[in-house]
Amino acid sequence: MKLTFQPTDTHIDLQAGQTILEGARQADIEITASCGGKGICRSCRIHVLEGELTAPTPEERQRLGAQQIGQNFRLACHAGVLSDCTVRIAPPLSEKSLNILSQTEETRHELDPDISKQHIEVPTFSEERQRSELEEIYRQYAEPSRADSNGPQPVSIDLAALRQMPSFLQQEARDLTVVSRRGTILALEPGNTTADMYGIAFDLGTTTVVGYLLDLHNGKLLASASELNSQARYGGDLMSRITFAQNDRNGRQILHENIVNTINKIVHSLCEQSGVTAESIYESTIAGNTCMHHLCLNIDPLRLGFAPYMAAIRQRQVCTASELGIHIHPQARIVMLPLIAGFVGADTVAVILASNLHTIQELTLAVDIGTNGEIVLAAPGRLLTCSTAAGTAFEGAQIQHGMRAAEGAIDKVAIDAKNVHCHVIGDGPALGICGSGLVDAVAHMLDAGVIEDGGRLLTAEKAEQKGLPLFLQERLASKGAPKHFTLLPAEQCDPREAIVITQQDIRELQLAKAAIAAGIEMLLRAMDVQANALHEILLAGAFGNYLDPTSALRIGLIPALSAERIRSIGNAAGLGAQRALLSHQAKHEADQIAGQTEHIALSGNAEFHRIFAENMIFPTLNSSRSMPDSIEVQNC
Ligand code: FES
Repeated sequence: MKLTFQPTDTHIDLQAGQTILEGARQADIEITASCGGKGICRSCRIHVLEGELTAPTPEERQRLGAQQIGQNFRLACHAGVLSDCTVRIAPPLSEKSLNILSQTEETRHELDPDISKQHIEVPTFSEERQRSELEEIYRQYAEPSRADSNGPQPVSIDLAALRQMPSFLQQEARDLTVVSRRGTILALEPGNTTADMYGIAFDLGTTTVVGYLLDLHNGKLLASASELNSQARYGGDLMSRITFAQNDRNGRQILHENIVNTINKIVHSLCEQSGVTAESIYESTIAGNTCMHHLCLNIDPLRLGFAPYMAAIRQRQVCTASELGIHIHPQARIVMLPLIAGFVGADTVAVILASNLHTIQELTLAVDIGTNGEIVLAAPGRLLTCSTAAGTAFEGAQIQHGMRAAEGAIDKVAIDAKNVHCHVIGDGPALGICGSGLVDAVAHMLDAGVIEDGGRLLTAEKAEQKGLPLFLQERLASKGAPKHFTLLPAEQCDPREAIVITQQDIRELQLAKAAIAAGIEMLLRAMDVQANALHEILLAGAFGNYLDPTSALRIGLIPALSAERIRSIGNAAGLGAQRALLSHQAKHEADQIAGQTEHIALSGNAEFHRIFAENMIFPTLNSSRSMPDSIEVQNC
C-alpha cells in the first residue's frame, strides 16, 4: 500500500496494518513521537487527507476527542493503513520554519586550535642517505611546538596518512601540505592547501542538533545550521530513547545511525552555505548530554535507565570521523567533550565554559531548559549541578494544541483589561501554541484571575460570580463541559479549530515548572544560600532565549529576582563547544570543569519530592503586578 506524506509528497510502501509512524520512520519523515508510540502524548498527530485507516483506538479517542477524529485527525503511532493513503503532519514540522536558536553573529574566542597545517617540499631521495620517506617528511616538517629541534621530529602519523605517502612522493612535484594535530600527522595533501582549515562545533540536543562551522585560522564563524534530532521519531525524552535502545533488537544501532545522519545533514548544509569542502574539516567538538553522547558513540546507555544512572564513560573521548561515519575528512578528530555525572553531560560543561561560571566571582544560577532541565549554581570556587526531568511541556508536547516554536505557533500571549492578544510566528493563521506562549498564557491567566494559585481553571459561571470581565467569561467553558480557556477563536486558526488552554495543559505546565523550580531550590540548599543572594540568573538554550522572564517569574519557574537580573545567554552549549574547538586550553578547562563540578542526584531524594510538590502551586499575585489596561502584542 502506498502512503504519501504531504507537503513533501514523499511516498513509501507499507503492509496493511502498518502504522503511519512506521512509514514515517522508513521514509525519513520527521514525526515527533514524544511518548515513543504509546498513544499518550499526541505529538505524532497527523491529518488524513485521503485513504482508509484502521479504526481509531481508545488512546486516539481519548487524546484527540470525537471532534478531531471527525475532522480526520489521527495519531500516527496508532493509525494503520488499509489502503493507499495521503496524510499531512499536523502541525507541519518543517525544519526550515522552526525557531531553533542558531547563532549568526560572531563571538570572540581565544585562538589556539589543535589542528595545524604546514606546507613542505620533500627533496629527491638518494640511495646514500639511508633515510625513509617518512624521515624526509619529518625533517621538512616544522611542527610549531618543536620548531627549534633538529633531525627527525618525534611525531606520529596515522596509518591512513602513511598509506597516502608513497603515491604523493612518486609525483614530479614533491610539495605537500601536512595536516597535523598536536604532533600527529592526520593527512598529507598534494600542493599547498594551508589556507583551508576548518572545524565544526556541535550542540547535540535531545530535540535539536545545531552545528557551527568555524575557520580554524582566525576563529571566524562561517555558517550555522540546525536540524531536529531524528531520534525524536523513537521518543521525545531521554527515557523513551533509552527504552527503545533496550527493547528493540536494533534499537541502539538505529538511534546511533539517526544521530549520525542528523549530524551529516548539518555538515552538508554548512558546506553548502559556506562553499567549504567537507574534506577540509579536520576537527569537530561535540557537546551533548550523557545519553546523546553515548548514542553518538554507539555506547549502550542502558545503565542510564535506572538508579544510580551511571555513565559508561565521563572523560573526554577522541575518535576519527570515519569511525563514527561523519562525512568530513575521514581522519578528522571528533572530540566528545567530557561529562559530569548522571544525565548532566558535556552540554552543561559547555554552558559553564561559555559563561565562565567556573571563574565567576558572584553567586550565579544558570538554567538550560530543554526536555531535561540542567541547572548550575556557581559560587567562587564551587560549582553545583543537577538535572531534572522537565518533560516535554515546554516544547509543546503533551499539550492539547501544543507544537514546537515553528511557523504558526503562538509564541507570545498577553491579556489586558479588554482583550487577549496572541503573537503567531510567521504572522499567518495559528496552528498551535509553543512553550513560551504557554508560559505567557498561564502567567497572564493567573494575573487575570481565571486560574487560581493551585492551578484550577475557573468555569464561566465562577468567573461571572467573581466579577471578571465579560470577554474572559466568554472564553471559559461552562460548568459540566471539559474545562478550557479559548486563546484564539476557530476563525483565526488553521485548521478551523479554536486554540484552547485546557485544565490538563495547566497541570502539565505545573509539573514541568515544579521540576525546574525544585531542582533550583535543591542546589540553593546544597550551597546553603538563599535565592535573594543570587547576583544573576542566566537562561540558556532556545527556550530560555524566547521566554519572557516576567512570565517565568509569575509562574514560579525561577526564583523571584528583579527581571533586570535575569539574562538570556543564547545557545551557551553551542558557544562552549566552539570555544573548545578553537582552543587547546579551553579543552583542558572543560576537563577541569567536568572533574570539579559536584553533581546533586535528585531521583529518590525525599527532600526533592517534597519541594517538587510544594512548587506545583503558582506564586500568589505580587501586589505590584496586575492586569494592565492595554498591551501591545503584534499580530492578533
Ligand atoms: S501519541 Fe503517538 S507518539 Fe505519543
